[in-house]
Amino acid sequence: MSSADERRDELKAVFHACQSCVRCPQLASTRHSVVFGAGNADADLMFVGEAPGANEDRQGLPFVGQAGKLLDQLLSEIGLTRAEVFVANVLKCRPPGNRDPHPAEVDNCQGWLFDQIRLVEPRVICTLGNFATKLLRGDATGIRRVHGQEEIRQIGPRAVRLFPLFHPAAALYTPSMVDTLREDFARIPALLAKPPVDQPEPEAGPIEIEVVEPEPEPRSLVDDVPDAAPEPQPALVAEQMGLF
Ligand code: URA
Repeated sequence: MSSADERRDELKAVFHACQSCVRCPQLASTRHSVVFGAGNADADLMFVGEAPGANEDRQGLPFVGQAGKLLDQLLSEIGLTRAEVFVANVLKCRPPGNRDPHPAEVDNCQGWLFDQIRLVEPRVICTLGNFATKLLRGDATGIRRVHGQEEIRQIGPRAVRLFPLFHPAAALYTPSMVDTLREDFARIPALLAKPPVDQPEPEAGPIEIEVVEPEPEPRSLVDDVPDAAPEPQPALVAEQMGLF
């Protein structure tokens, strides 16, 4: 089992790898930024939306537009802030013109999300809207039928409480949906207060072989070797990730 610090460091490494992702050639060529996700790297509560929009693409952070304002408002009504949760999307790049994600794009991108879930270790995941709900429930049932219904699902190596919600962007245009979203949100604190779900036995991993570092060469022998690329500054990485 990894410590919170180890998981956070691995999450930063995944963040860096994700920045140069070109698995979806169209999205990689039209995006301004890869919107990895942001928030508390050790959050108990994670939200998964659909894909960045224009504001998110410009700022590199999830849910910073109108839908994000509604998300913030609903969080504050249950006594939470963004700094306490982790927010990610099914797609890390903006689909041009905010079109729906293509199935191949969801396939290409899902590994990043599964890594985020594995490393943040949330206890409760709220899927926002159809795309996140269908992906994480692993079936095609629409959000209208399953919103507000808690269930336990295994996602990768982790069992979590999954709690599908309407997407705040859809609710923005339908006042009755905001009411439903607010009612569903009001149940989140009780979900967080439940005991942690039992975790599956870890799969037997590869046998770990300890690597013994060779003694460093005397300085005089390595003077003409160029320095490795500088390590990214932790503060900068944390800022780009909106990590708290
Ligand atoms: N809608 C989403 O699904 N995600 C965002 O980050 C913003 C709007």
